[in-house]
Amino acid sequence: MSKDIKTVLLCPPDYYQIEYEINPWMDIKNKVDQQKVKSEYKNLKDIYRKLDLEVQEIDAQPGLPDMVYAANHGFVIDDIFIKSNFRFQQRRKEADWAEKYFKEKGFKIKKIPEGIYFEGQGDMFYRDGKFFCGWGKRTSKEALKYIEKIVGEKVISFEVNDPYYYHLDTCFAPLGDGKVVINPSSFSNEDVEKIKKNFKKVILAQKADMPFMCCNILSRDHTVITGRGVGKDVKSELLKVGYEIFETQMEEYFKGGGSVKCLTLEYFRS
Ligand code: ARG
Repeated sequence: MSKDIKTVLLCPPDYYQIEYEINPWMDIKNKVDQQKVKSEYKNLKDIYRKLDLEVQEIDAQPGLPDMVYAANHGFVIDDIFIKSNFRFQQRRKEADWAEKYFKEKGFKIKKIPEGIYFEGQGDMFYRDGKFFCGWGKRTSKEALKYIEKIVGEKVISFEVNDPYYYHLDTCFAPLGDGKVVINPSSFSNEDVEKIKKNFKKVILAQKADMPFMCCNILSRDHTVITGRGVGKDVKSELLKVGYEIFETQMEEYFKGGGSVKCLTLEYFRS
């Protein structure tokens, strides 16, 4: 059954800062400009509202600087919230706040056993009636069987083993309607073939797009929202297949290793 996205969850950058390094983008010397990040957040929220998405916000918490990357809190499907088990201890409490938030909203909470890692929509997508999961750097391969049990369907999975693109959503962006943007060098040849089998149109990111997280984008109908800086090749391919592009400044969020998609938890609901 097709599921629409009408609602997204964001987390304001009240306590966002680079306080530790858990991916190669992060450098504790590279401080976040609070003024700039507030305006980047506001602009993203405004774009979503313009696109008729309901924006919900979870309160930021002191001591959890990466909580801004709401996509990682879990996965929302119908009235179910699958809670994340973060690989890094620095982020684990974020999932408890998300559990509380979704419980209060009336969602059923599902959990993966302790010690098996799962990083929510950082590594899991639902598009065109299919579930896609990444495993390796963050989510454990073992998590997949629990996910399949919860959603009652097989997931199509890929190994994510690129230090720079450590979540599936940093190197793979299914847009709907059989289209996907990928960073080909993040995947094994076998997985690239699997992607080609599952999508009608595969848009390839270029090396020059690397500093701009060009796969960390979000699509809605015929619109794609990307961080500013994505190269002209990817943009022209997107335009060719009929997308309007909203480019928005994400410079401060790149410092933590994320962009548009990492900041956004989509609700998939029938
Ligand atoms: N600093 C965060 C981490 O390393 C960034 C998370 C980005 N989120 C994403 N969905 N890729 O965990």
